Amino acid sequence: MQITVVGGGIIGCAAAWRLAQGGARVTVCDRGRMGGEARWAGAGMLAPGGEFGEDSRWGRLGVESLALYPGFVAELEAATGRRIDFRVCGAVEIAGEAKEMERRVAAQRRMGIRVEEMGEGRWWYPDEAVVNPRDVVAALRAAGEGLGVECREGVEVTRGEGEVTVWATGAWGPGAYPVKGHLIRYDLAPGSLPRIIRKGHYYVLQRATGETIAGADMERVGFDRTLREAAVEEIRGAAEEMVPKLRGVGVVEAWNGFRPGSESGEPVVGRRGESGEWDAYGHFRNGILLAPVTARLLCDGILPSGGRG
Ligand code: GLY
Repeated sequence: MQITVVGGGIIGCAAAWRLAQGGARVTVCDRGRMGGEARWAGAGMLAPGGEFGEDSRWGRLGVESLALYPGFVAELEAATGRRIDFRVCGAVEIAGEAKEMERRVAAQRRMGIRVEEMGEGRWWYPDEAVVNPRDVVAALRAAGEGLGVECREGVEVTRGEGEVTVWATGAWGPGAYPVKGHLIRYDLAPGSLPRIIRKGHYYVLQRATGETIAGADMERVGFDRTLREAAVEEIRGAAEEMVPKLRGVGVVEAWNGFRPGSESGEPVVGRRGESGEWDAYGHFRNGILLAPVTARLLCDGILPSGGRG
């Protein structure tokens, strides 16, 4: 089977690798650079507890995808010889209003999210993790190419090609729109922030290198890449309130990226009618988290026997 994946972000690259493992001949086309958009910008917080407050299909798929991550990373590392900065570190959530948090926790527990009360308005999510999305996209590309996936950069595709086309076009999918977010980086000693800390939509996490990333605001301003100083200041204030040892360290880098929002508020994943075209975009704040499970859903739908022989 010949498959064209349009979009070389984490969703497209994960789908391409898994589809190639299932025996398909896969070409990935990206009109820019592979992994050049949301996954370049993303912090890499794998945190259903921070993202899903209502019992929902995609919340449950988020839990499933988080559970797939250790195997996904180990398999990619073994296939490519590359190291991926991935750590199951847990997350501390600084809760807002107590009644609302209890309602949220009850819904999360129904979805299988483990969460424990720590006292003083803090909640502990032991299974949550961080990953460097740039490492993942680079390894997915290498693993895919090792199986014969052809990667074509600077190529725009506007209509279905081959037997199957997968539209992994992020914020550029039909009805999708960009939700801009800023992130900032501090450099601390490695290991000095062992857990994710978050409050509302702000969070701080640390990579193995000690690079400490804080985010993120949400703005609907189209594809405007201007760095907004007020947003950077807002995130700096929130980060330094959550993690006081950041005060005085100094922000070394600030950037922004576009999350792919969708009209329904949920990822758009599935077949377009009876056609050979499949959608896989609109993952909003959770593209990195949902990449393994999205690739599995696509394989199940596209390949005979889901690619499992
Ligand atoms: N995944 C967190 C964010 O989009 O800011």
